[in-house]
Amino acid sequence: DDVIIANKSYSLPSNFAPNNLVTINGYIRVVDYVKTAFTELVSAATSVGLNIYPSSGYRSYNDQKYIYNNYVKRDGQENADTYSARAGYSEHQTGLAIDVNSVDMSFDNTSESKWLKENCYLYGFIIRYPEAKTDITGYNEEPWHLRYVGDIATFITEQNLTLEEYLYYRLYV
Ligand code: DAL
Ligand code: ZN
Repeated sequence: DDVIIANKSYSLPSNFAPNNLVTINGYIRVVDYVKTAFTELVSAATSVGLNIYPSSGYRSYNDQKYIYNNYVKRDGQENADTYSARAGYSEHQTGLAIDVNSVDMSFDNTSESKWLKENCYLYGFIIRYPEAKTDITGYNEEPWHLRYVGDIATFITEQNLTLEEYLYYRLYV
């Protein structure tokens, strides 16, 4: 039911922007119900002594175009495509994705990263680009990239699926 998909193969229209964007910490933008869920997640993490903070949320088509083009200049297109979405193909354009903490592999294996892997589904989020699924997602591991999917996060996590596998399952199984 209305799972918005933006991935390596499926893009959003360049003029697509989500309704009801709100800010977290003054400048990170996400859809309102994602902020609600994220705020609960952060509170739960705080209560066990962990510090989770948002680093990137909604990015427009043009924001992503600018970011991707800079990565291409720095690393070449083939490399950039392993870790950055082209304009239109980023989940950040949906307003449902949040990058947290350090947006690089120094975040991996931190207490916060481990806690997210165990607990983020309780708040409706999935780790969108897991290490073991790079061939399916088409992107390198990103332990910092959370995607809000709501209630289906539990099933996706328990079954160890990516969003691609979940949608395939929903269509064909
Ligand atoms: N880093 C993710 C894949 C993005 O650019 O949306
Ligand atoms: Zn991200």
